Amino acid sequence: MELAGAVENEPNAQMMKGAQGGAAPKRGPLKQFSPLLVAMVGLPGRGKSLLAKRLCRYLNYTGDNSKVYDISEYRRKHMKQYATHEMFRADNLPAWRIRQQSFREALEEACDWLATRGHQVAVLDGPNVSRAQRQEIYDLAYSQLGFRVMFIECVCEDPVLLERNFKEILQYSADYRDMATEQALKDLTLKMAHYKAQYESPTLGSLWELPCPMVKLLDGGEGGVIAHGVTGVREGKILAYISTPKPYQQTLYFSRHGESEFNVIGRIGGDAPLSPRGRMYSKSLARHVQDLKLPSLQIWTSTLQRTKATSALINAPQQHLPELDEIWSGDCENLSYEELQDRFPRELALRDREKLKYRYPQGESYIDVMQRLVPVLTQLECETNVLTISHQAVLRCVLGYFLETDPEEIPYIHVPLHTIIKITLQGYNYNMETVKMPVDCVDTTRAKPVNCSENRTAEDALLTLPAHFESVACLNNTLASCT
Ligand code: F6P
Repeated sequence: MELAGAVENEPNAQMMKGAQGGAAPKRGPLKQFSPLLVAMVGLPGRGKSLLAKRLCRYLNYTGDNSKVYDISEYRRKHMKQYATHEMFRADNLPAWRIRQQSFREALEEACDWLATRGHQVAVLDGPNVSRAQRQEIYDLAYSQLGFRVMFIECVCEDPVLLERNFKEILQYSADYRDMATEQALKDLTLKMAHYKAQYESPTLGSLWELPCPMVKLLDGGEGGVIAHGVTGVREGKILAYISTPKPYQQTLYFSRHGESEFNVIGRIGGDAPLSPRGRMYSKSLARHVQDLKLPSLQIWTSTLQRTKATSALINAPQQHLPELDEIWSGDCENLSYEELQDRFPRELALRDREKLKYRYPQGESYIDVMQRLVPVLTQLECETNVLTISHQAVLRCVLGYFLETDPEEIPYIHVPLHTIIKITLQGYNYNMETVKMPVDCVDTTRAKPVNCSENRTAEDALLTLPAHFESVACLNNTLASCT
């Protein structure tokens, strides 16, 4: 793709061009559903990358295919190893050229990606500090290619937040991987000073330099949000998402309910009570959680009795949310997988073939569950120290969100009973740890069978049933033959 203004201009000349507003060719009215380029703006250490990553995770989960293009990754491709802050000085022309080239490559690839059918939002993550760069983004993405464009500026003045952001950069940035901490801190401070000298902070209101939306986020949203000219469904969705401040340090806990009486006999759905082992788990879970002494701990459960009973002994505020109820299997509620195969062999085969999209007759699909969880997930992202006690299918969707699992894989995520799952925000990603509690329980995981055809044998359909379910099936058969 040929880039607009690809002639190598010196920084001052670029700034002049930007300051004069550039020469964007005129275009007709924007199409409402054109792909959207979101460009971040802001000094280093202002929380841009974390926000870009979070936004992308949220958009992907909610059906807008999105991807982050990180300009600094392009810069690293042009350098064997990061040397010092000197490369960010405005008067270091060779280094400026590399940075400008990296900016253009990232922008170009983001636009190439957006040009592919089914790709909706590209997030260009980088400082984009000069008016000239922002003009160039607009000229290429909107004027030449007809994409929608939106800018998000991250401003951060809170010293506590700044210190935390700096620490994160020192810990996770590839630039500082091989540098001693003290030296790295000094280097980062100087890099910041160079960027400050080049920063042309966008002015809002009638003085905003481009005819597209611009949102200014102050202290990660804690200090408020100023939005200018936001129109469009995706832009509105993005504004709503970024307007809620999200913690920079975050740990969330998850558990399925204790083993239920239905789990023991291999039945799905329903509202069965806990089994004796499930009750034991609720006691050991409460002990474990109480020992952690988590500040401001909250418990969120589903409205079903097995999750409420599991959380009952934990001394913390509790909320029971219908969004966290197990996948509703409609006409198949309360059946075992054997009964399902017996009564609805075609339904079981269809489900095995496309478990993500398959909707039970009068019931739900995994996609339905993912959708109904969106409000809970967006709130959960704003919290820390919440223990969510829910169910196998629901927790697969929740973990799939935070761990960015390929949607097709979500219905197969392993979420065993009697296990506490802890996820912690580390850098821009979540890290998962599990603690298996010493209380025996059944395994309710049924892997995808090899044979998913509608005319498969019952044996093929039930081949991947966990071992204990087979013995339950034998028991059921024996009981049936006795009656
Ligand atoms: O078996 C326990 C259970 O929570 C059922 O209530 C639910 O239908 C099932 O797991 C969901 O798992 P899968 O989608 O693998 O059938």
